[in-house]
Amino acid sequence: MSQPKAIFICQSCGFNSAKWLGRCPNCGEWNSLVEEIEDKETRPFAPSFPLQEPILFQDIKETKKPRIQLPLEEVNKVLGGGLVVGSLVLIGGEPGIGKSTLLLQICRDLALKGERILYVSGEESLEQIKIRGDRLGIRDGDLYLLAETNLERIVNLAERIEPKVLVIDSVQTIYSAKLTSGPGTISQVREVANEIFRLAKRNQIASFLVGHITKEGGLAGPKSLEHMVDVVLLFEGERDHTHRVLRALKNRFGSVAELAVFEMTSSGLQAIPNPSEFFLKERPVGEPGSVVVATVKGSRPMLAEIQALVSPTLFSGNPRRMAVGLDHYRSAMILAILEKRLGRSFASDDIYVNVAGGLNIDEPAADLAIALAIISCLKNKAVPNGAVVFGEIGLSGEVRSVSQALSRVREAESLGFETVILPRGNLMALERDDIGLIRLQGVSTLREAINIIF
Ligand code: TYD
Ligand code: MG
Repeated sequence: MSQPKAIFICQSCGFNSAKWLGRCPNCGEWNSLVEEIEDKETRPFAPSFPLQEPILFQDIKETKKPRIQLPLEEVNKVLGGGLVVGSLVLIGGEPGIGKSTLLLQICRDLALKGERILYVSGEESLEQIKIRGDRLGIRDGDLYLLAETNLERIVNLAERIEPKVLVIDSVQTIYSAKLTSGPGTISQVREVANEIFRLAKRNQIASFLVGHITKEGGLAGPKSLEHMVDVVLLFEGERDHTHRVLRALKNRFGSVAELAVFEMTSSGLQAIPNPSEFFLKERPVGEPGSVVVATVKGSRPMLAEIQALVSPTLFSGNPRRMAVGLDHYRSAMILAILEKRLGRSFASDDIYVNVAGGLNIDEPAADLAIALAIISCLKNKAVPNGAVVFGEIGLSGEVRSVSQALSRVREAESLGFETVILPRGNLMALERDDIGLIRLQGVSTLREAINIIF
C-alpha cells in the first residue's frame, strides 16, 4: 500500500493546500490549516459498511446496549448505568488531577472481576505505572500494560490481545505514522481518536481516551474530539485540595446530570457518598462572613460554605476583588447591586469571596448566599447557624426563583439544618407535604432577606 498523502485543510472554509500556510488564502482566517490524510479509505465519514436502505422508524428494534458494571458504583452512575460495550469515552482534565489514577483503579477492579484489560501509556514507563499500581493495590488479573506511542502498533496489539476494555493515556502522546505532524497537534489527536473509535466499534472494545485540558480550555486537541466520541467525562478539582469531581459533559447512552465526588488519598481515589457533609466538615460555627448555600451540581444537590471577607483597602489605589470558586462577573454584579440597594460604597474595601473546600459553583442560585456572606462580614454578625440559603438576585435587588428547589430543601433537611431562606416564588410552588419539619422562609427582595437574618 502506498503511503497516504497528507494535505492541509482550512478548518473554517474547507480550502485545501499541499503545504501548510499561516493564513488561509481563501477566507483569510489565520492559523486554520490542519493536516489531514488524503486517503479516501481513512476519511472519517467514508462508509465502511455495505449500502443500507432506509428503515421505517417503527420497524427499528430496540436493543439494550450491553454494559459492563464497574465496581466503582459512582462511576457507573456518571456513565448512565455502566460502561457500554464498544463505546469510546473521552476523559478530560488538567494534568496531575488524577486521570491516570482513576483509570488504573477502574482497570484494577475490572481485572479482578476477570475481564481482560489493556492499559496503554504514552506518558509513563512501565516501572512508573508499576509504582502507582502497587500503591493502588493491584495484584492479580488480566491487566496488560503497554508503554507505546505509535498508533498503528497499538491498534495491532489491541486486535491481537482482544481486551474488553482499552485505555489510551493520553491521546496527546500518541501519533499516527501516516501524518507528518508531531503528537499532540490537532490533526494527530483527531486521527488517534478516529482510529480508536473504529477499533472500539469493530472489535467491541470499550475504550477510554485520556485528554489533558488546561483551565482555560486550552490545548485545543481534546476539545475538538468532543463530537467524535460517545461520552465525554470531565475530571475536575483544585490540585491543592483533596476532592475531585467527575461529571459527564456528553453521553450518547444516558443523561449528563449525574456527578461523582472523590477524595484523593494516599491509596488512590475514594468515593465520597455524602459530598455535603464533606464540604461542610470544617465550617466555622457562629463566625461572620460564612453562609451555607444549597447548590446543585449536575442533578445532585449539595451544600457548601461561601465565605466573604471585607477589609479596608490599604494604600490608596484600586480595591481588590477576588472570587475563588465563583464566577468573577457574577460576584462583581452582586457587589454593584449591594452598593445600589444598601446605599454604601465599597470603593475603599477589598472584597474576597471563596467557596470553602475548593468546590466550584457556577450557578446564579448562589447569588443570595454571596450577598449575605458579604453583608454578614460587613456587619460583623453571623448568619444563624442552622440556616441554608439559595436564590438568584436580579439587578433591581429582587430574589428570583431557581430550579430544583425541592431537592435543595431536602438536602438541607437531611443534614439537620433548621431553616431554609429561599425565593418566595420557589416557596409558593413547593408542596408542603413533600417537605418534613424544616422551616421555610420565602423572600422576594435582597432587603427582605437582610432584615430577616440580621
Ligand atoms: P495522576 O493520576 O498522575 O494525574 P493525571 O493522570 O491526571 O495527570 O495523578 C497525579 C497525582 O495524584 C499526583 O500528584 C499524586 C497523586 N496521587 C495520590 O495522592 N495518591 C495516589 O494513590 C496516587 C496514585 C496519586
Ligand atoms: Mg496521567
